[in-house]
Amino acid sequence: MLKYCLIVFALLANNFCQAQKTIDQKVDSVLKLMTLDEKIGQLNQYNDDLNATGPVTLDSTKKQQLLKGQLGSLLNCVGTLRTRAWQNIAMQSRLKIPLLFGQDVIHGYKTTFPIPLAEACSWDMDAIQLAARTAATEASASGIHWTFAPMVDIARDPRWGRVMEGAGEDPHLGSKIAYARVKGFQGNKLGDVNSVMACAKHFAAYGAAIGGRDYNSVDMSDRLLWEVYLPPFKAAVDAGAATFMNSFNDLNGVPATGNAYLQRDILKGKWNFKGFVVSDWGSIGEMINHGNVKNEYEAALSAITAGSDMDMESRCYKNNLAQLVKDKKVPLALIDDAVKRILRKKFELGLFDDPYKFCDASREQAALNDPDHTKAAREMAAKSIVLLKNQNNLLPLSKNTKTIAFIGPLVKAVKQNKGFWDVEVPGVDSNFIVSQWEGLQNKVEANSTLLYAKGCEIEGEDKSGFAEAIDVAKRSDVVILSIGERRDMSGEAKSRSNINIPGVQEELLKELLATGKPVVVLINTGRPLVFNYTADNAPAILYTWWLGSEAGNAIADVLFGDYNPSAKLPISFPYSTGQIPIYYSHFNTGRPATNDSNRNYNSSYNDLSIYPRYEFGYGLSYTSFGYSNLQMSKKKIKAGETISVSLAVTNTGKYDGEEIVQLYIRDKVGSVVRPVKELKDFTKIKLAAGQSKTISFTINKEKLSFYNNKLQWVAEPGDFEIMIGTSSKNILLKDEFELVN
Ligand code: GLC
Repeated sequence: MLKYCLIVFALLANNFCQAQKTIDQKVDSVLKLMTLDEKIGQLNQYNDDLNATGPVTLDSTKKQQLLKGQLGSLLNCVGTLRTRAWQNIAMQSRLKIPLLFGQDVIHGYKTTFPIPLAEACSWDMDAIQLAARTAATEASASGIHWTFAPMVDIARDPRWGRVMEGAGEDPHLGSKIAYARVKGFQGNKLGDVNSVMACAKHFAAYGAAIGGRDYNSVDMSDRLLWEVYLPPFKAAVDAGAATFMNSFNDLNGVPATGNAYLQRDILKGKWNFKGFVVSDWGSIGEMINHGNVKNEYEAALSAITAGSDMDMESRCYKNNLAQLVKDKKVPLALIDDAVKRILRKKFELGLFDDPYKFCDASREQAALNDPDHTKAAREMAAKSIVLLKNQNNLLPLSKNTKTIAFIGPLVKAVKQNKGFWDVEVPGVDSNFIVSQWEGLQNKVEANSTLLYAKGCEIEGEDKSGFAEAIDVAKRSDVVILSIGERRDMSGEAKSRSNINIPGVQEELLKELLATGKPVVVLINTGRPLVFNYTADNAPAILYTWWLGSEAGNAIADVLFGDYNPSAKLPISFPYSTGQIPIYYSHFNTGRPATNDSNRNYNSSYNDLSIYPRYEFGYGLSYTSFGYSNLQMSKKKIKAGETISVSLAVTNTGKYDGEEIVQLYIRDKVGSVVRPVKELKDFTKIKLAAGQSKTISFTINKEKLSFYNNKLQWVAEPGDFEIMIGTSSKNILLKDEFELVN
């Protein structure tokens, strides 16, 4: 049998090598035909002329450049009609090398899913992968070959607007999500007609911008880089990500775009990445602003040398690489390597066989109107809603509630629900988006009355709408107040120094509470906000983020108990901006602050709690769960051994529900200090009311390892603590074990 398997394996490996060799041979055969100008053209990417996601360079000669083979890719060009038109021009060039179309399909194409940070609250890898798969199916049907996603930047500063685009503060959860999203976008294999290339971004450490100010500098130890910020990128490589995008920031003094340590030593060297790296918008030329190069000639030299293969929108490559080769500053081999990486992906996508395979109008029509996509969006949205508070079990509401007052500036908003990084699909209006008002109308029984008042704007001091809102509230049995940010208050270049709920929205809440009616608050935003008045005084709070095109239906599903909320926060929520950065996996320090009653000579603020408002991993349910019977197969292991940890989880409430059981580990003594706890595993389980299940985790050396101060990945002998909880703070079961030599 073994012999048979070996023969089969050898044949399969040979076939793969033949196929790969065939692609490599094809790449070489095209490369041999290319002039230097045409090679540099493949490294050149422009924005289409419709809409931009960065500072625009006016250039009316793009088509002529494409005809001359001086352009390899376009971004922000969507739809089968427009992509076909551009591809037609590429097919008139001398070598007919197909154009690559890239787009920020971050959380959906037409069908819009919750923003990525909201999806991360689900801790549901299957659902997250399905969301990416759905987005890829729609985008690839609309001419798109390549999405500039997943954004996998770890972020611990909610002032940074792009926190909405990632998966939060934790490398373990962030790595699982990065892997799931890459798999979702790329599907079974590149070349399938419903697969698009993924792009892990922004390489690297962009989320650690000082002060949470977008594009700002990043300065950190290599240990922190390797331990916290790189793991999701490695997970993306392991998932087979076809491309990477570098980041705008300088890292330890070297801009990422020109950072050979990142792109050559780590990505293409240690990780053996065979795809290609695209710069972020104009980031090659921006190295001049960084003060790292003198001019575009030096910028192009630095970037190509450091491993940036494609130049998005800076034109530095187009204008300088040929001269750099002539000046023998850049060996032709470097250009050829970048060109081959790009051509290899165009072959893998099948574009040389059929440049129009992604431009099928009938497939586009079907994909953009697939009811399964809508269903997936609604389910993902419901799984993304975090129940922060539910005093006296005010929620779920009864569908027979006689009169409901739905108040606030976001109740009837439509496109706001899409959040930042949505896609404007040509010829598609926004009437497929379910507003929160519409979602409630779809849900409540005919004998229920819905009353509406806007109450106030999102920003500004105008309270003239309060009176109407108070009147509507007084005439109701329950009030739902939908407040938060505008969707363009988080996202790229949307850093805020003050992350309180803006305007007079919390003052409106105060007036509504004064009517004595029960108030459920929905908070719509792309980031953790500060809302202490709401948190202290509202009886029920749902964090609804930006939930996408099925927002209204998903919110109604949760409000009325058709979906029991299961989401848990992937990022810490501060009491105040002054507490930032705050994250759960902090070090203990020499004078640890252990509770809020003791401020005496320890690492705490004198004027604020040591805890976040809501901790990493926090989220409530309409039911409750008990953990019991913790068992460990061993209390002492050697490096190669494992420990099986098991426990019983019981649904102790009256609603069926899902629980995210979290396993944290603490290395109590290390050659470098270790966090007080680190998430090392989790599982999401469904339990009927009253049901119990035994779940188990395996502890191995990998889960005990860290980077020492020589950057070696080691597990050091000593005592370890395991903590199992419903959040990083609410630890229900603990035990210890020892790793011995
Ligand atoms: C933007 C973003 C990047 C995006 C690119 C193209 O500046 O930083 O995430 O993919 O440009 O839109």
